[in-house]
Amino acid sequence: MKKKQQDLKRLLFNIASLVDLGQEVTSAKGIDEKMKTALYVVTGMFSVPKAGLFVYNADRHKLELVTCKGIKDADGTSIDVQTKYIKAFQKNTPYNISEARNNSFYERNAEAFRRLQAKTLIPLFAKDEFVGAICLGKRLSRTSYLHSEKDTLKVVASQMAITLHNSSLFKKIKNQVNENKKLYQNMRHIYHDTIQAFAAAIDAKDVYTRNHSYRVARYAVAVARELRWKAKEVEGIYIAGLLHDIGKLIIDKGLLNKGETLSAAEIQEIKRHPQISYDILSKIKFPWKDVVDFVKHHHERIDGTGYPDELKDPDLSDGVKILAVADAFDAMTTKRTYRKKLSLFDALREVNKCLGTQFDNRISKVFFKVLQKEIKGEIKEAQILPHLDKDFDPTIITTLLESITAELSY
Ligand SMILES: [Fe+2]
Repeated sequence: MKKKQQDLKRLLFNIASLVDLGQEVTSAKGIDEKMKTALYVVTGMFSVPKAGLFVYNADRHKLELVTCKGIKDADGTSIDVQTKYIKAFQKNTPYNISEARNNSFYERNAEAFRRLQAKTLIPLFAKDEFVGAICLGKRLSRTSYLHSEKDTLKVVASQMAITLHNSSLFKKIKNQVNENKKLYQNMRHIYHDTIQAFAAAIDAKDVYTRNHSYRVARYAVAVARELRWKAKEVEGIYIAGLLHDIGKLIIDKGLLNKGETLSAAEIQEIKRHPQISYDILSKIKFPWKDVVDFVKHHHERIDGTGYPDELKDPDLSDGVKILAVADAFDAMTTKRTYRKKLSLFDALREVNKCLGTQFDNRISKVFFKVLQKEIKGEIKEAQILPHLDKDFDPTIITTLLESITAELSY
């Protein structure tokens, strides 16, 4: 009767401990802390003062100590485990180390087992994967484990194995994600650097258009942001701005820099550059949509008299319209071989005069609106203003911009 009562008491204690353990391993604590507490629960259940928990390092074929109880100077302790031993282990089943004496697994690790005063080893398996082991020292109460105790240990071991497995999987996945992120960022940098280098090469061909591509890219970004384009789309039009004149690399430098009036044939030659830009860029698989389309059509006009395809309004995308106005505005506000630069006031009036024929009404007015906001200091990262000569009267320009954009809605 007394024994039955004792057994019942022990059973209740074990159930309570298992509940504790279940709560521990599913808690939000870090894996090291979870494993430490779990080990304390196990050693408490079976009255084992010394114990260690190991995780399996498959690259080194070693069990490496994660946490221990009651053992001094155990840091760095590891146990050699060859594949043949793993195959011989019974999953999550306690293993009497003394029975292993005289076999190579014991001999190979005799020093570690002695230091840990290990009597029992429980190999931890999550499904079929060997993930670690628990080493238990001598028990205070009795030397061996009852059948029921072994069953309880098995349950405990499977719970700890799954926790370890999930955490190592998580780490692996996290590392992989971080690695991919790094690779992607590196690639992006290389990509951007290459494109910037191309833009510099394009602008270097024409002495009067230094940084033209860069400014066009910035102006285009200003409009795209004002239109609330998504970040990736904004990046796309920035790239298109940088590369829009790449075809000029093929055009004769003498022709691009020729000061006097060009012949009809020479004009035709220069007009080839958007098509050449397209031919070059269409071979590249860009991560941004429509870059090649924007580039090819940046000299198209709303009225269909542009080039190379003489496209008319409904066939022109917003990106094309943005590049067209950004490109022309920069051409007007910088000195060219064939004419002096226009003042900001005159350039804005010129764009305004060409609304509905050369430039799109809405897109150009958005451009005016951003400039207006930048002058008023309403935009954090100004994209247009920093590139303009500062010799204009802000009041006059603002009044002009306000009158042009008075009825704008977008
Ligand atoms: Fe161009």
